[in-house]
Amino acid sequence: MSQNPTDTFSVTKAETSKIASVDFENLAFGNVFTDHMLYCDFTDGQWGTPVITPYAPMPMDPSSRVFHYGQAIFEGMKAYKDEQDAIWLFRPDQNLDRFNKSAVRLAMPEVPEHIFMEGLKQLINLDKEWVKKGKGNSLYLRPFMIATGHGVIASPSAQYRFMIIMSPAKSYYQGEVKVLIAEHYSRAANGGIGAAKAAGNYSAQFYPTRLANEQGYQQVIWTDDATHTKLEEAGTMNVFFKINDTLYTAPTSERILDGVTRKSILELVKRDNIKLEVRSVLVEELLTAANDGSLKEIFGAGTAAVINPIVGFAYQDTYYELPKQENPIALQIKDKLTNIQHKLAEDTFGWTV
Ligand code: COI
Repeated sequence: MSQNPTDTFSVTKAETSKIASVDFENLAFGNVFTDHMLYCDFTDGQWGTPVITPYAPMPMDPSSRVFHYGQAIFEGMKAYKDEQDAIWLFRPDQNLDRFNKSAVRLAMPEVPEHIFMEGLKQLINLDKEWVKKGKGNSLYLRPFMIATGHGVIASPSAQYRFMIIMSPAKSYYQGEVKVLIAEHYSRAANGGIGAAKAAGNYSAQFYPTRLANEQGYQQVIWTDDATHTKLEEAGTMNVFFKINDTLYTAPTSERILDGVTRKSILELVKRDNIKLEVRSVLVEELLTAANDGSLKEIFGAGTAAVINPIVGFAYQDTYYELPKQENPIALQIKDKLTNIQHKLAEDTFGWTV
C-alpha cells in the first residue's frame, strides 16, 4: 500500500455551532451535517496531512475525474451514544477493510488505517454533542473518496481526496416498504463492481427505482443480471427471506455487497440457533412460498436502514401481501442488534469499539 500516514492532524474548529438550529426529532436521513468534516489528499503517491475543518463547500476543478468517470467510493457507518455518554462505533474494522477493497477495485489508493480510524475518532470527538442518546438515534458517518485529478482522459486519476462527513440520523425509511421484483434491470453483474461500495452502483439504481416508485413501490428487489431468476438485494440493502422457520439470504459474490449488518445478522442467528441457509432464493420459490403460505417475512438489512421489514412485493403485475406476524423475526433480530450497538446488551462478539 502506498502510504505516508502523518501522525498530526491539522484541526481548525468552527467558530460557532449549527446544532441549536437542528430539529433532532424530525430528521430526514442524511440531510443535516455536523459542524466539522475531514479531508486528506493523495498526491505524488503519498497521503498528506489529514485536515479537520468546519463543514463547508469546497472548490474543485471541473475536469476532476470523479465528475466524468465516477471514480468514487464510500462507506456507511454509525456512532451511538450509551446511557453513560460514551460513544461507540460498530465494527469499524469491517468498514475500513471493505473501503480499501472498494478502492482496489476502482483503481484508487488504499487509505491507511490511521487516517481512517483516527480521523473518525477525532471528528466524532469534536462533534460529540451531535450524537444523541437512545435507541433509534445515531450519527451516520460517511467516509468517502473521490478522484480529484485534473483532465478528462479516461484513466485513473493521480490525485484523490479522502473525506469524512457526519449526519445525525433516525430512521432511513418512513412508513411501510413495498418492493417490486426486477424483471429487466439489475444492480450488478459478474465481473462488475457490485461488491464494491462504488457511487455508480447507487446512481444506476435511481432510474429503475423511480419507475418502481411510480407504481407505488419504495424499492426494487434486484435479480441476477443473467437470468433474473435469483433474488439478490433489496434497494440499497441485503435481503433476507423467512420461509417456514428458516431464514435465507444470498451468498456474497461479485454481485452482492458484503454488508456489515448482513454478516452481523448471520452471526447472531447462528448464536441463537435460528435456522439459516445462505443461498440464493429463486423468484419461482418465492412465488410458491407466497402462494402456499410458507413465506412469512422479507426484510432488508443495511447500516442506514438497520433492518427494514418489507410488507409486500410485486412480480409481473401481481402484488403479494405478506402475512402479519405476531413476533416477527426481523424485529427480534433488529432488537438484538441495536441493543448491542447502543450498549443495552452485552457485546459477546466484541463488535463495539
Ligand atoms: C448504508 O446502509 O449505509 C448505505 O450505504 C446505504 C446508503 C445508500 C444510504
